Amino acid sequence: MPTPIIIDCDPGHDDAIAILLALAHPGELDIRGITTVGGNQILDKITDNALKILSFVNADIPVAKGAAAPLLGKLVTGEEAHGESGMDGPALPASKFKPVEQGAVEFMLEIIRASEEKITLVPTAPLTNIALLITAYPEVKERIEKISLMGGGLAYGNVTRTAEFNIYVDPEAARIVFESGIPIVMSGLDVTDKAAIFEEEIQELKTRGPVSVMVGELLDFYSIYGKKMGFVGNALHDPCAIAWLLHPELFESEHLYVTVETEGKLTRGMTVADRRKKPDQPANTEVLLGVDREAFIKLLFDSLERLDRQLGSPAGES
Ligand code: RIB
Ligand code: CA
Repeated sequence: MPTPIIIDCDPGHDDAIAILLALAHPGELDIRGITTVGGNQILDKITDNALKILSFVNADIPVAKGAAAPLLGKLVTGEEAHGESGMDGPALPASKFKPVEQGAVEFMLEIIRASEEKITLVPTAPLTNIALLITAYPEVKERIEKISLMGGGLAYGNVTRTAEFNIYVDPEAARIVFESGIPIVMSGLDVTDKAAIFEEEIQELKTRGPVSVMVGELLDFYSIYGKKMGFVGNALHDPCAIAWLLHPELFESEHLYVTVETEGKLTRGMTVADRRKKPDQPANTEVLLGVDREAFIKLLFDSLERLDRQLGSPAGES
């Protein structure tokens, strides 16, 4: 039975790749819905990008718009890395899909309540929507199997020395989620920076089918920021949260108690792990720390090739 999931995202180049990775595995992942949140860009652009990606591969998955801003303060976008549109690079055609009328919280609540099986949430963005959902409707927590999220980092940040973007944008929401009691699998920078795609692999993608080429063009743009920051390779952050659901054996992890600093001058938005084994503070998070990079990249290539074949074949053939 495929795992029912909701992806909560801010496309965002790597969010888009995460969505495509999930779409390529309908036998393992049943995407019940996608929700959007302000993050890499403002909410309208994020939602438009999500709809464009789905339209590009003819995936009619319902999309609901969520929070435009964090619980406190103003939205800080990731425009520097993702560009003015939030997904600069390929000129994707306008989407043939529109978002649903409901807001993201109501949309997620309805899906979770209607589902026989528990739902797995896959947030690859600031955690505002998730925090609003479980705060407004705490009873849904027992209907959520787990949260496989991209966010945080034990060793360092990428917005400040200590805070990773998804947590930095809304530390209060992140703290609510980490302290919710729902089991968390955290794809933080400790692992996502190791899940990097290299230049020659990006160029290889552009010799393949339409979906692989489009992803190659996304990564061409997304690499610009990385090169400016002196990174070797292009970290595929968000796809890790999906890849773990598909092949957890590709990852090394530790089970730790993690929460989020919301007050510190230098540490606001930092995910703080406690390695002390305290009986009154059981581990709440499986923190991913390592990945078999070659196998991860092969999974991505094979998944995109599957979508290429689907797109290349006459409608209706899989
Ligand atoms: O720090 C990486 C995260 O920030 C990813 O989710 C990326 O999409 C950006 O939102
Ligand atoms: Ca993201």
